[in-house]
Formats: sequence, C-alpha cells, structure tokens
Amino acid sequence: MASNKTGQSRPGKLERNIVAQKLSLIPPSGIRKFFDLLSSMEGVISLGVGEPDFITPWNICEAAIYSIEKGQTMYTSNQGMPELRQELSRHLEKLYGVHYNPATEILITVGVSEGLDLALRAVLDPGDEVIIPDPCYVAYSPVTVLAGGVPVLIPTSVENGFRLPAPSVKARITPKTKAIILGYPANPTGAVMSRKELSDIKELARLNNLTVISDEVYARLVYDGTHTCYPSLPGAKEHSVLLGGFSKAYAMTGWRIGYAAGPAEIIAAMTKIHQYTMLCASTMGQQAALEALKGSERDVKEMVADYNRRRRVMVKGLCSIGLDCHEPEGAFYAFPSIKATGLSSEEFAEELLKEEKVAVVPGTAFGACGEGHIRCCYATSLEEIHEAIRRMGRFVGKHSK
Ligand SMILES: Cc1ncc(COP(=O)(O)O)c(C=O)c1O
Repeated sequence: MASNKTGQSRPGKLERNIVAQKLSLIPPSGIRKFFDLLSSMEGVISLGVGEPDFITPWNICEAAIYSIEKGQTMYTSNQGMPELRQELSRHLEKLYGVHYNPATEILITVGVSEGLDLALRAVLDPGDEVIIPDPCYVAYSPVTVLAGGVPVLIPTSVENGFRLPAPSVKARITPKTKAIILGYPANPTGAVMSRKELSDIKELARLNNLTVISDEVYARLVYDGTHTCYPSLPGAKEHSVLLGGFSKAYAMTGWRIGYAAGPAEIIAAMTKIHQYTMLCASTMGQQAALEALKGSERDVKEMVADYNRRRRVMVKGLCSIGLDCHEPEGAFYAFPSIKATGLSSEEFAEELLKEEKVAVVPGTAFGACGEGHIRCCYATSLEEIHEAIRRMGRFVGKHSK
C-alpha cells in the first residue's frame, strides 16, 4: 500500500511486484507437496526423504561438543579451517589420486547445496546454457535459473541405465553452452557413470571449453562397481569443480558441511561470493567434519554394507510385486517403473499414500523424463522396507492393467 503526505496509507494498486519475477520461472519442489500431505497422516512408512536413517557417529558428535567446550565458537577463515582443507586434500589424493592445493584449490561450503550455487554463480553470465541430465536432483535446474543460466535438459532413460550419453550431450552444445552438471551416483536413479563414459564427456568439455560441475555427494555410496571421480580423469581437473560433502556418507545432513575443489581461479571466484553471503561454514560443523575424515572410515564402510543389504531387499521386493527395477549401482534410491499399473507417477504416489500409507516420490519431481517411475529411498530399516513392499504389492495388485 502506498502512503500520502500525512503518512496515512491509502489503498491502491501495487506499483511493482514484491517478489522478483525470476522466481516465477521456478516451480515449487515436487517433493515438498508430498511431505506436506504426509505430515498430516499417521502410520505412514516413508521411502520419500533422501537422507540416512543413521545418527552421526558418536566420535564426530563428540569432536564438535569438545570444540565448543574449548570455546571454539568464532568464525573460521572464509575459505574454511586450514586443517580441514589439508585433511580433505589428503583424503581426495588417497581416494582418487587427484591433488588439490589446500591453500588455493579447496573451499569449505554449507553443504553441497551451497557449493552448487556458488559454482554456477561463479561461472555463468546471463543467458549461458548449462547441460543437465533429466531426471536429476531437484536443485540443478532451479539453481541454474537463479544464477542467470538456462538449463538444457538431456533426456536419459532406463534403456541407457539413466547415464548421460556423450552423443546426446554433443548434439545440444551451442556457442552459449558454458557448463555441464554431472551428478553420479545419481539421485533419483542410483545410476553410476563408467570411467569410459565420463572420459567421453570429458573430451567434449575440453573441445568446447566447458566447465564440468561434478556433484559427488554420493561418491562413497557405490555398491558393485567403483566410483570414478570426474576431476581425477587425466586433463579433467583443469576444467572441473568437484562438489563433495559429509551429509550422506557420514550421516551428517544436519551439520551442513560440504566442499568445493577445483582450479584456483574458480575457487577464488566462489570464495568471493561465499565471503559476502555466508562468511564461513559453521565452526562446530567443520570440527565435526575434520573428525569424520580422520576417524570414521570404519563407520562409513559399515553403513555402506548396510545400505547394500537394504538395496538388495528393495530391488528384489519391487521386482517380485511386478514393478520392474533396474539395478541402482549407487546412492540409496531405487527408481522402478510403474508402467504395469497404467497410473501416472503423480497418481501412483498420491494413491499409494492415501490407500496404503506408503510415501514415495513421483519420478516427475526430478524432471519430465521421470514419468513412469517412482523414487523409493531405502535408507530406512529392513522391517520398514519389507512392510512397504507388502503394502505396495497389495496396491499394485489392485491397480494392474
Ligand atoms: C544429488 C544431491 N546433491 C546435493 C544434495 C545436497 O547435499 P548437502 O546436504 O551436502 O547440501 C543432495 C541432497 O539430497 C543430493 O541428493
């Protein structure tokens, strides 16, 4: 409402939009809608939320508590605690054989989420195009739009194991293409790209001068094969940003710690934004992350072995009730086809929740190519997985074509 000379407000037309117009380009999250519905229901088994059901290992919690007791409650360096950056540098070298200088090539972020936002804002000019696989993690397109970029979605499907085929990428490269987002192991499909497939993408990136933003938040959660860290491929480090985090492998979603590793020029640009918008990631969270790297390898291995057991039960269970499910090789999601029912993904998820009180996420929440699928997160107890499969079996029996 505008005000007159005496300061009284007068009713009238708003002269401008209160909310920035670019937000109208971003749809609300397709996952949120389900969780709003779910929160008003009792007795629901949730295969919906993508987070570990483990509590953060105690040695990690204790390190954070101890740091508070010692009075370590101030800001850290903008770039993150030097000890944590050094430890991360050692960790990445040991796991993947790729070396990052902790002084100039690593930035500690508020989760991979902030790293993704910073990387895109650091490399994009308005109108630059970003190649993104479809379906993919819900944030990739919206964060690209917020950074002024234009998402170019490349369809993937169960036929190619939901991996990103280099020829499809090549066909969509234009003079405006600036970056490619890779997210493998993938949310929502569990797909893992092979070394050869990533190398083919790398050749395209090099030829066309593109930056590859590699979201490797699920890097430790790979079951049968091995994870290829994109920047560890020969000649890839120079044109890529590795986004890593603690949320999934160490069951630390609430601590909000991640990191970006990449060429000094890009890390400096990301730090420039981070120092004004975030200052630094939480000090206690960074202390916890340091302990995670130093003393939690056994916990990670045990959690991964446990997810693997649940994965087998989930995939076998889904196939046994008539929902075809390709083998998810990483992360903690199964992405079965629901075509046997003739329902759309949204209908399936909504009706399943209402009729059988099982929450799953419709594949379309992750892009148009997710139609015909649902995402089932198996980071939940085996008893719950068994019960969810029993209920879903009843539901599929009723709705089969
Ligand atoms: C593929 C992917 N990237 C990033 C994130 C966010 O990670 P963080 O908790 O480190 O911000 C998620 C969370 O579900 C994810 O699935």
